Amino acid sequence: MIWIDHDKVSEYAATLQDLTLPIPKRVSSLWCLRTVSSLECLDALFRAFEIEQSSELLKHEICYALGQMDKSPEHIEKIQNFLEKVLDEDHPKIVLHEAVEALGNINSENTLKLLKRFENETSEILYETCFLTIKLVEWREKTENGKTEGLNLSKLKFNTTNDPAPPFNFVREPKYKDIQLLESIILDNENYDLFERYRALFTLRELNTEEAVIAMCQCMTKENSKKCSALLKHEVAFILAQMEEVFKVSIPFLIDCVANEEEAPIVRHEVLVSLGDMIDDKSLLEQFVNHPDQIVNESCQVAFSYIDNRKAVQEEERLINAQ
Ligand SMILES: [Fe+2]
Ligand SMILES: [Fe+2]
Repeated sequence: MIWIDHDKVSEYAATLQDLTLPIPKRVSSLWCLRTVSSLECLDALFRAFEIEQSSELLKHEICYALGQMDKSPEHIEKIQNFLEKVLDEDHPKIVLHEAVEALGNINSENTLKLLKRFENETSEILYETCFLTIKLVEWREKTENGKTEGLNLSKLKFNTTNDPAPPFNFVREPKYKDIQLLESIILDNENYDLFERYRALFTLRELNTEEAVIAMCQCMTKENSKKCSALLKHEVAFILAQMEEVFKVSIPFLIDCVANEEEAPIVRHEVLVSLGDMIDDKSLLEQFVNHPDQIVNESCQVAFSYIDNRKAVQEEERLINAQ
């Protein structure tokens, strides 16, 4: 657990912007800035993005964080201007992916117009991200943000992140409690579009059982690899880490997935970071800490920092309880 001090914004900014510091330290300051979420924090994040030379991990996390921050009109205006600029520049796809998603989360009137330019996009990750973002903006409009489907997004079990798709309302439509049905929707790339498949995925997260986790992990198997895009798999890896009470059963699937040298870097990155929340044994990931792919080795360092932090907190609790 990181303790956030609202008076330390300039300290967090300095750490995040210090190119000589280890990535996990900088990422941890990034999350502090996201949590404090003031306009000053926005400027610190923008500056860090501009001066960063090589870390796709850091740049994409900054864009992700921007989509999760306060939504006052001042924030929206600043974030939108920044993201528009990012989309006009040449950045790695994983960075542009998070920038598009963040724009969708801001949900300003201009989002759809902005995303039109990606209609003929050839990169699968970007094309799919735009497709999902457009669908989400349209869904929000059509359903009055879920109202007409009887969904109150703020009352969901998992309501701390802005997600690329809502779950189905399984209270109103009990067929969506059927884990097998949800799994079949996610794996069916012929009869369902990606937005519907994402909705099935987020419904499984809402069900929050081990069975639901196993169903989600089917996207990660070699057997289903052709049916599931890198974007879908990275989303699965990301949300598994949120399912704290039940995520342990996903560990073998995730370890297999990250070990596959042919797997897309965006997937391996998200899997590694999620494993950092799930496992205590760093030796399981040792082979990735010096991996030639920068986003893979940096993700491994971040995972190790999560493991170390968790162990330190546990040790502190143990000492307090022993007193
Ligand atoms: Fe993402
Ligand atoms: Fe990520």
